[in-house]
Amino acid sequence: MLKPDFPLRTSRLTLRAFTHDDLDDLHAIHRLPEVTRYLHWEPHDRERTRAVLEEKIACNALLDENRTLAIAVERNDTGQLIGDCMIRWLSREHSRGEIGFVFHPEHHGKGFATEAARELLRLSFEELGLHRVIGRCDARNAASAEVMRRLGMRCEAHLVESEYVKGEWADELIFAMLRREWESIPR
Ligand SMILES: CC(C)(COP(=O)(O)OP(=O)(O)OC[C@H]1O[C@@H](n2cnc3c(N)ncnc32)[C@H](O)[C@@H]1OP(=O)(O)O)[C@@H](O)C(=O)NCCC(=O)NCCS
Repeated sequence: MLKPDFPLRTSRLTLRAFTHDDLDDLHAIHRLPEVTRYLHWEPHDRERTRAVLEEKIACNALLDENRTLAIAVERNDTGQLIGDCMIRWLSREHSRGEIGFVFHPEHHGKGFATEAARELLRLSFEELGLHRVIGRCDARNAASAEVMRRLGMRCEAHLVESEYVKGEWADELIFAMLRREWESIPR
């Protein structure tokens, strides 16, 4: 089980649960076609964002497998919500999880996604105690793949035309890290 001691601070970011006040900032991310380009959903209208936000607010703890912890990421300097992250507990028996991250394009290219995703790995390994954590992305999503490489995750699979997304076949990359690999990273 994981109920993080929110808010969690990294050097430039705060990770916390979503609240109803996040609607505008979350919608500013979810409405953009460039954000959803390699995701399995289309840009959201405001009502859809509102419904998604309700789900995220409810996902504030990982009480069991097959559940998702939704994590809002804000900049410490401005307090603005810039990222929408998650940890999914894939299997209790096999001690596996998955991380995911979506950031507003205005805040790309500054290492914020990498900084937040590193905290997702820390939570997964050190607090939930998982053995193995994966991250998946469309093979064309170079920025996402690069975040996972930068974190030290290993690209274990390139699945060719494994998904039919937005009218075309897409390849998928699967990255992974084990707890012992996380623990061996010099800090
Ligand atoms: C995936 C996504 C979060 C990656 O964002 P990003 O801005 O490329 O990643 P980061 O925030 O870690 O920034 C990395 C960049 O900042 C640079 N950078 C600057 N300061 C840095 C720092 N302190 N630490 C790490 N990188 C830093 C890096 O060199 C890198 O630049 P580069 O792309 O020119 O090599 C973003 O593209 C996104 O939200 N996409 C839409 C949603 C999506 O596809 N999500 C993934 C689903 S699988």
